[in-house]
Amino acid sequence: MNSPLGIGLIGCGSISSTYLDLIPLFQGIRAVAVADLDMERAQKSARTYPVDAVSVEELLARPDVDVIVNLTVPAAHHEVSLRALAAGKHVYSEKPLALTLEDGRSIVAAARKADRHVCAAPDTFLGGAHQQARKALDAGRLGQVTSGTAHIMSSGMEAWHPDPDFFFAPGGGPVLDMGPYYLSALVDLLGPVRHVSARAATPKPLRTIGAGPRKGQQINVRTPTTLHAILEFANGALVTLGASWDVVAHGHSHVELYGETGTMILPDPNFFGGEVRILREGGRQETLSARLHPLAVPNQVHGEQEKANYRGAGLADMAHAIRHGKTPRCGVGFALHVLDIMLAILTSAETGISETLTTSCERPEPLGDRQAADLLDGPQDGGAGNRGRD
Ligand SMILES: NC(=O)c1ccc[n+]([C@@H]2O[C@H](COP(=O)([O-])OP(=O)(O)OC[C@H]3O[C@@H](n4cnc5c(N)ncnc54)[C@H](O)[C@@H]3O)[C@@H](O)[C@H]2O)c1
Repeated sequence: MNSPLGIGLIGCGSISSTYLDLIPLFQGIRAVAVADLDMERAQKSARTYPVDAVSVEELLARPDVDVIVNLTVPAAHHEVSLRALAAGKHVYSEKPLALTLEDGRSIVAAARKADRHVCAAPDTFLGGAHQQARKALDAGRLGQVTSGTAHIMSSGMEAWHPDPDFFFAPGGGPVLDMGPYYLSALVDLLGPVRHVSARAATPKPLRTIGAGPRKGQQINVRTPTTLHAILEFANGALVTLGASWDVVAHGHSHVELYGETGTMILPDPNFFGGEVRILREGGRQETLSARLHPLAVPNQVHGEQEKANYRGAGLADMAHAIRHGKTPRCGVGFALHVLDIMLAILTSAETGISETLTTSCERPEPLGDRQAADLLDGPQDGGAGNRGRD
């Protein structure tokens, strides 16, 4: 077998340990070095994981780094991804791809010019639950999907994140931060979106940090924290999206899809596993066995709950695509369309006018059981214990 692609991480903040924990689950990729503007953060990672801590310049110059995983804050994604492409590296960016459509398009153009791949998180739609849902929809189990709902609602991120400023600055907010999980799942299931209309509100102008060394400090909220949108998909389906960080508790499902012959209730698109249910007229219901898919097998324990966490699956799929000359599933065209939907929601909410999208995309290839197993390093036995943490 070819040697694994070398992975260099830029950005050693909260999510970096998840990547460093989970990359070893996959075939074809190996973390070799990390960098951060704050060298102490990079050094801390290198004390915990078998990687070198280097400067960003050194990381980009290393011949053993093939792919840069961009884990910087959203405002730095564009610049860091362009620098990595200019250094001849492939890029896997955390979400969102960029903060403007112009910046997103410039990443697409730079990737084409450099003949390198760019992919972007999230990869949770490759998880077992959503892939089982995709298989059932593609097999016509609901007939034509005509409408649906998606709800991303919580009281916000300031309670747990030690540096939550970026969540409440332009480029943050529930749509750009959490929307990628839900919209990637919906576009994977239903195809591209063509029109969007939305309204927004910002009930709280200040947020108080609840954890870490800055606990008690206040942050000015500079982006809307409650947005409601109607998405019209190219296939005609209408989906209502509620995205808010002003909701203490609610009783909505994460995603519901209404088809001609049934309703599908999907689990949280921020996770790889969970239960997919199909409800029929007369109260009959069926639960799809998501656990049959390798990327739904629980591999972590969080409190009392077992969870499937395969963050990095999109990166492994990208490495597989690079090796075999295939199209990666978390490709830049898909990420650009998801960015376009999110920005259209924000623009429509600001102007009060509905937006027609200027991008479209193909649905990614489904990730079947066997293809998912091929991404993993070794058999998944369902009793993998706590192989990583979130
Ligand atoms: N925290 C999570 O649970 C989570 C989950 C999924 C995705 N994400 C995404 O991952 C990204 C990072 O999130 P985080 O929570 O780890 O943020 P964070 O603020 O904890 O860490 C970001 C790190 O990037 C570094 N950085 C910023 N600009 C840089 C630059 N130009 N060059 C080098 N380093 C730079 C910072 O010094 C910091 O250490 C964001 O895009 C976020 O949306 C986060």
